[in-house]
Amino acid sequence: MRIVTTIAELKTAVAQARKDGLTVGLVPTMGALHNGHLSLVNKACNECQFVVVSIFVNPTQFNNPDDLRTYPRTLDADTALLSNNTKANVVFAPSVEEVYPEPDTRQFSFGAIAEVMEGKYRPGHFNGVAQVVSKLFMFVEPDKAFFGEKDFQQLAIIRKMVADLQLNIEIVPCPIVREADGLAVSSRNTLLTEQFRSVAPHIAATLRASVEKMKELSPKQTIEWVTNQINSFGGLEVEYYSIVDGLTLQDIANWNDTNYVVGCITVYAGKVRLIDNICYKK
Ligand code: PAF
Repeated sequence: MRIVTTIAELKTAVAQARKDGLTVGLVPTMGALHNGHLSLVNKACNECQFVVVSIFVNPTQFNNPDDLRTYPRTLDADTALLSNNTKANVVFAPSVEEVYPEPDTRQFSFGAIAEVMEGKYRPGHFNGVAQVVSKLFMFVEPDKAFFGEKDFQQLAIIRKMVADLQLNIEIVPCPIVREADGLAVSSRNTLLTEQFRSVAPHIAATLRASVEKMKELSPKQTIEWVTNQINSFGGLEVEYYSIVDGLTLQDIANWNDTNYVVGCITVYAGKVRLIDNICYKK
């Protein structure tokens, strides 16, 4: 596995792979790698012959400077994890100056799917994600790119960007990986104190329990029930819980409004912001 830090080295490595007739997969990450990332990389290695993993904490997608400052950065551990557990070919770990030699002034507009949930609570976040992912797509020009379903709205935004830019890249969704106690695996979990780590599994457990509740409650009542349940566990505070059409990401009023219904949640466990989601029907 090679570690490169410049776009020129990255392009040379990918060009050689192309010359050798290999299919190319890309797994964009912000590092602090965990089993969730490993599952993306291993899926990429099963489906593509040459796999690039990018590790870059992208400043333009953080709307909270503290969040950017405290985001875990563990490059040595990340590269060791990748080389011991995957067949990834290249790690691209650029500096901020390499990716943004000039400030990126591009403004993406994704319409209604970007205005709800994370789009509402983290203004500018998806513009930053689109800035960096579009650059990575230009640098690597992969056949396939792999994204986790934990970031459900991000996946929808990336798909829309690929459609809008008419890129010939297949976006491959990868299922949420969970700890044994149900907590969705996330780089942010390492920031949880023991106290918050012990209550955090109630998020996933409550979402799971809410699937049973849908028989007797409307979507609005289910949102209230989930929010009250989770807030009742000391230290957890729901920022939002939305039950949406899985394609348009717009709120639904009735379970029968659409065939694909997903609940997306953000919860503060102390200062750590956790996200998760559950599919009610598809
Ligand atoms: O999901 C993430 O880790 C990031 O948003 C991504 C896609 C790597 C872009 O920085």
